[in-house]
Amino acid sequence: MAQNWTPASWRQKPIQQVPDYPDQAALEATEGQLATYPPLVFAGEARNLKKALANVSEGRGFLLQGGDCAESFAEHGADTIRDFFRAFLQMAVVLTFGAQQPVVKVGRIAGQFAKPRSSNIERQGEIELPSYRGDIINGIEFTEKARIPDPERQINAYRQSAATLNLLRAFAMGGYANLDNVHQWMLGFVKDSPQAERYRKLADRISETMDFMKAIGITPETNPSLRETDFFTSHEALLLGYEQALTRIDSTSGDWYATSGHMIWIGDRTRQPDHAHVEYCRGIKNPIGLKCGPSMTADGLIELIDILNPANEAGRLTLICRFGHDKVAEHLPRLIRAVQREGKKVVWSCDPMHGNTITLNSYKTRPFERILSEVESFFQIHRSEGSHPGGIHIEMTGKDVTECTGGARALSGADLGDRYHTHCDPRLNADQALELAFLLAERMKGGRDEKRLAAAG
Ligand code: TRP
Ligand code: MN
Repeated sequence: MAQNWTPASWRQKPIQQVPDYPDQAALEATEGQLATYPPLVFAGEARNLKKALANVSEGRGFLLQGGDCAESFAEHGADTIRDFFRAFLQMAVVLTFGAQQPVVKVGRIAGQFAKPRSSNIERQGEIELPSYRGDIINGIEFTEKARIPDPERQINAYRQSAATLNLLRAFAMGGYANLDNVHQWMLGFVKDSPQAERYRKLADRISETMDFMKAIGITPETNPSLRETDFFTSHEALLLGYEQALTRIDSTSGDWYATSGHMIWIGDRTRQPDHAHVEYCRGIKNPIGLKCGPSMTADGLIELIDILNPANEAGRLTLICRFGHDKVAEHLPRLIRAVQREGKKVVWSCDPMHGNTITLNSYKTRPFERILSEVESFFQIHRSEGSHPGGIHIEMTGKDVTECTGGARALSGADLGDRYHTHCDPRLNADQALELAFLLAERMKGGRDEKRLAAAG
């Protein structure tokens, strides 16, 4: 049991990245109101995710985690959600088929609203204003009014999360994710997509397998696992007042759970062992993620693991590594060795986005080659250390945006202005995300399947 932990004990600790709410009474009223609202997820679901991640930590499975850098109020609509889910299902099916391992599907969605910032101030020309911290806190417009933190936004974020989750649950359980639809998910491809043909071939093989199974009496009607999928939600647990308001006791176990999402993670900027974010997360029973950047030392990591997962429970902790394509070889091996030496049970996941951000033509972007290169290194290093490369954590969208350069359609710096829509960091578009999934599937199966696919033509 965590000692002296309560959902509010983080308030006694130093804290980074807190918004400056001008009206404390209004903030407290909002938090009080949220505390009376229904939970967004159930403890039993979080436990199911933990079991699935426990398998991944033992080398049986792969974690696919992805979604927006930051969700926005402006882009809240059925099409955005469906496009994301469709691209995500395509990735999942490519990975499941390629790796012949279960894929644990976790969206950065239905709660991913709060952003840590490197500076409290944004300057444009002569004007300085408070930085944008995500739609759950303030507005992205560069005006004094928009940048004032407004507690009412938390209510809006909660309601948007509920509506998003409702549609995702319907898609996951109500027929959209049925493997009989594997060809229909192609409708989202833009014309001349380089990945479309590759995907169609794989979909053909799945359909053929489905037809065979139907012939022997195994159908989606009789077999729910063919027509449904488990989809989980996750976000960074940054805005702790909001998280606290949605922290509830599970009546069946008597344990505390964050009910704002199935999995939450601690950012690389807020992982000080004696600070508020670690304090909050140590007391809840959900699976949690810990972002590990270049400043993470081996001793620092073991200290955090001991705080966050004292019982060394498999599936509890996912280490999300974000070093950069040129730094991963320097930093990852010592962390893997420390974890192995201490016998810690973790899921190793690779975030190839956040260490590879550059500025080009005054756009924040990420070269796709560097993203692939970090993923390749991550796999190689794990293989040579005898450890399981357990997952990937990406920022992506189902839309045809132009935010990351490169990929099979070779987006250039000059293309970035065409459809640069992100509210925060540059995301992979649907094509780039799928290209990454094909590469991962190849790595996971040592290229065997790819050759068979090519031979089958
Ligand atoms: N239920 C299985 C799973 O989620 C198989 C499955 C059904 C599936 N629909 C899917 C896999 C869509 C990937 C994508 O793994
Ligand atoms: Mn980001």
